[in-house]
Amino acid sequence: MKWHYSKRLVLKTEIIKIINPTESYPDIERAASIIRAGGLVVFPTETVYGLGGNGTDPAAATKIYEAKGRPSDNPLILHLAQPSDAESYAVTNENYYRLAAAFMPGPLTIILPKKPTVPDRVTGGLPSVALRCPSHPVAHALIEAAGLPIAAPSANISGRPSPTNARYAIEDLSGRVDMIIDGGDCEIGLESTIISLNRDGALLLRPGAVTYDALCCVLERVEISPAAMGEMTADDRPLAPGMKYRHYAPSSPLVLLDGPDEAFICYIKQKRLTENCAVICSPEEARAIGGENLVLTGDNDDYPAQARRLFSALREADKLGCDVIYARKPRADGLGLALYNRLIRAAAHTVVKI
Ligand code: TXA
Ligand code: MG
Repeated sequence: MKWHYSKRLVLKTEIIKIINPTESYPDIERAASIIRAGGLVVFPTETVYGLGGNGTDPAAATKIYEAKGRPSDNPLILHLAQPSDAESYAVTNENYYRLAAAFMPGPLTIILPKKPTVPDRVTGGLPSVALRCPSHPVAHALIEAAGLPIAAPSANISGRPSPTNARYAIEDLSGRVDMIIDGGDCEIGLESTIISLNRDGALLLRPGAVTYDALCCVLERVEISPAAMGEMTADDRPLAPGMKYRHYAPSSPLVLLDGPDEAFICYIKQKRLTENCAVICSPEEARAIGGENLVLTGDNDDYPAQARRLFSALREADKLGCDVIYARKPRADGLGLALYNRLIRAAAHTVVKI
């Protein structure tokens, strides 16, 4: 395995704001021409920001790995304008089109056997390719204007939380890409659901806003991989290769607390007497706890709001420089499964029953 990371990459990064792609079409065109010329453009999607390059060009894939500091055996997702564009890059099947009709464009990535049009560099040498059609108007306009599939991982330095606004993408990638498009806050805040159709049936590899229950409404049989539940044993061969790398890890240790509302408040109040800790909590919990180093997320029953806030909250909590960060362990159902999957890995499986 080769690591691509160089501190010497100092590009002049242009930062532009695009809210309405129709009004800003000349800017979209300029961004698209950078991609066509082999350059890198960070762009907003409905899930998280992506770090995009020409998905048919192995040299662009190498540049993406370098800019992100990502191992080159961790494959990239190809972003398409239309579900039917998949025909040029993958061997599709009936289940692909059933899923596409239900969830595309949107936060779903589908893995299929690849065609030779996709460079091995993009798939990290795998015989399969990941495909997704983002619904974000800026992402869609950019892919269409580029006239090619855009290979894009999340626009963070490898190992940091995915950026859900341009500020965090700039923090990580300024000087490492040609352009960053600021399209405001991401609506969902967690990366897309990934499902593999290249085995005998369907396997959920990464939970996201398209939930397991929603997938089961469309497909007869969906298995959940241990990786999707956040589980990983030393000798597991990861089916989504990204799952084997440490992800979303704050530099202060994160501890998940598992228990009822009152127990959480009591536990935190007690800990704060002796520990320098940061707490990721709901506005209501913050009022009950009081004091400093409280990072707000959504209300306890509002999983979409928690999803939108999670990665920003992790970055903000980390910046407080406390000795430990506490957060609540979400219920692993519906969108909660995606929150649980990201948090359990950020916490390196440290859960305290309270
Ligand atoms: O929402 C998203 O999916 C965002 C936005 C930018 O579209 N992208 C994103 O990409 O999260 P990335 O590279 O950070 O995560 C993609 C995951 C990685 O864990 C990678 O290993 C997995 O998808 N993956 C890609 N191709 C694969 C393949 N052929 N087989 C299995 N896993 C694959
Ligand atoms: Mg990522």
